[in-house]
Amino acid sequence: MTPGSVTSAARAFGSHGDGLPGPVMVVGSTGMLGRAWVALLRGRGIEHVPTTRVEVDLRDPGSIERTVDGRCRWVVNCAAWTDVDGAEKDFAGAVALNATGVEALARQCKRVGATLVHYSTDYVFNGQATQPYPTDHPREPLNAYGKSKAMGEEAIERSGCRYLILRTSWLYAPWGKNFVRTIAGLLRQRDSIKVVDDQRGRPTSCEPLAETSLKLMAKGAEGMYHATDGGECTWCGFAREIGRLLGTKCRVEPCTTAEFPRPAKRPAYSVLDLSKTERLIGPMTPWEVTLADVVKRLEVG
Ligand SMILES: NC(=O)c1ccc[n+]([C@@H]2O[C@H](COP(=O)([O-])OP(=O)(O)OC[C@H]3O[C@@H](n4cnc5c(N)ncnc54)[C@H](OP(=O)(O)O)[C@@H]3O)[C@@H](O)[C@H]2O)c1
Repeated sequence: MTPGSVTSAARAFGSHGDGLPGPVMVVGSTGMLGRAWVALLRGRGIEHVPTTRVEVDLRDPGSIERTVDGRCRWVVNCAAWTDVDGAEKDFAGAVALNATGVEALARQCKRVGATLVHYSTDYVFNGQATQPYPTDHPREPLNAYGKSKAMGEEAIERSGCRYLILRTSWLYAPWGKNFVRTIAGLLRQRDSIKVVDDQRGRPTSCEPLAETSLKLMAKGAEGMYHATDGGECTWCGFAREIGRLLGTKCRVEPCTTAEFPRPAKRPAYSVLDLSKTERLIGPMTPWEVTLADVVKRLEVG
């Protein structure tokens, strides 16, 4: 299969007569992106099967075989090990989900003829670029999480299943554990905070990401794509915009990565090139616009 080709996946949409995809299984439906997917499918009236780790445990191949049984044309995998710092201490744990588990899921998709839609990360790159990373740029992860996700990408490519891999970055939603909710809490409590200003990337809101994914599926996209919100910023710029939208008085001061050492190395530059995606479905919405929508609806707690 040629990465990015528009093939049999497009034909699968037509089979329901309504232009919508056939039944969609959402693996990891309780996660931040998983919740956005389920809300989107419910809102559009698209038949779907949300699964939690009770039905599909990526560490248990038997559960994958039992549950991914061919009733769904699409398997959207939102499940992953996402604890970036934790992966440094437990690389085997991250690999068990992000590589071995994903490989088992891809094999099962091939077996039952389902298309696997999978999410990967900007952390598969080394962060040394000065312009956006194209989809075919060589993988060179800097940390254990990035390595486990790169191994997952490679496993899907090797599996022979029909797939769409979407690399994304800096995810957030009104729910779940994410930068926007953490910073909003700090901005409300403190007079000033320091935020890293030497890492650049693309914030991405989960709800538009699920919609972008569905649009790409409807266009029959297969292979590797990048999907983030438009524009770019540093974490400090991101935090300042959250403060501006919330109307808090807290000062957001820039600091360096060296001032806040973390177990896992982070890429200094991880902007993903969107041109392949935008050629197919049009421009991505600027991150400031999607952020304004989410900040109004942040869940408390
Ligand atoms: N968050 C980011 O900033 C970011 C950036 C780039 C790419 N991504 C990628 O985007 C995708 C979605 O990320 P997210 O932030 O939405 O993740 P998340 O909120 O951390 O959710 C992870 C999901 O995986 C499930 N899970 C954990 N262990 C499992 C297992 N053994 N078997 C089955 N499911 C299991 C969790 O279930 P429980 O609720 O039961 O724990 C949860 O539903 C992931 O592929 C991630 O690598 C994320």
